[in-house]
Parts: sequence; C-alpha cells; structure tokens
Amino acid sequence: MASLRYTALSVPQHEFPSKYGSCRKPITLMPRKTPPSPAASSSFPISAASTDASPAAPDKPVIKLEFIGPKPGPDGSYPLDKAEAISGEKLLRNIMLDDKIELYAAYGKVMNCGGGGSCGTCIVEIVDGKDLLNERTNTELRYLKKKPESWRLACQTIVGNKQNSGKVVVQRLPQRKK
Ligand code: FES
Repeated sequence: MASLRYTALSVPQHEFPSKYGSCRKPITLMPRKTPPSPAASSSFPISAASTDASPAAPDKPVIKLEFIGPKPGPDGSYPLDKAEAISGEKLLRNIMLDDKIELYAAYGKVMNCGGGGSCGTCIVEIVDGKDLLNERTNTELRYLKKKPESWRLACQTIVGNKQNSGKVVVQRLPQRKK
C-alpha cells in the first residue's frame, strides 16, 4: 500500500530518507481557519458601538408662534393660540393644521386646495416676525397683489430658515377683521 502512494507522487522509494520512516500514515488535511472578522472580535455589538460613536444631535433652533383670533371673545380679549416649530422644517399651514388652529374661513374649509397654492383661501396676516419667514412666493404675489404687504398664504410660508429663531405673531383670518 505504501508503494502505491509513492508511485502516485512520482517519488522513487529509494530517494525517501529512511529517517522519515515509512509513509503508512495518511496525510490528514485540516480545514483552513479563517481569521475572525473585526465585528466578531469586537467586545461590543455593532449597533451598540455605532450608536455610542455618533455625537449627540445639537439642539435645532425653534420658532415660537402666537395666533391671534379674528374677533374678541365675550370678555373683550382676543383668543390666543400658541405653537412651536423647528426652524425651516414646516409650512405655516401645516403647523396650524397639526396644532388644530383654525386657518380657513367657511368657504376655505370646504373648498381649499389642500396647500397647493391654487385657491388663495389660507390667508393670514403676519403681525410680527416676518423676517423669520421666507419671502413671498410668485403664487402669493399673484393672489395677494392688492392685499396688504403683511398678508401671506399660509401654504406658501416657510417658518424659519433652519438657522434663525424667535417669535412670529400671526393674525388668523385677517379678512374677518373688517
Ligand atoms: S391652501 Fe390653497 S392657496 Fe393655500
């Protein structure tokens, strides 16, 4: 049996040094060990390690809003609603709807365009803090051409620019004040 192995390796039996003895023992091939991946060798799970490595998110600037109602109540004071928004992340219309602050007059409640800038029913007046908002859009210039400069369409008005902060005072339904 040993001679058969030598023949297969093309090594003549006489060239085999005697000190190696006979080659009766078959060679056993061991499976190669693969090095462990860095993730597996880490003492932390990947999710925990990556979470710990990220820096804490800095606080984003906030715009505070006050909404004055169009008509005084029985005691003579105007209703006031308050809200807050991260600067530059929301339209005024969405802030008002999310906070359930009345935006539309009777007609606009049923006939508004859903914020598409095509109905002109989401009018508000900016009493204070207009510098914290975007400039009037072309849609507003068209719908509000003959209206006071302080009037805006809430669906076109971005509250903040992601860097500024402060307070904006909004008159709801300014057309009802007359
Ligand atoms: S919701 Fe229609 S123009 Fe603003």
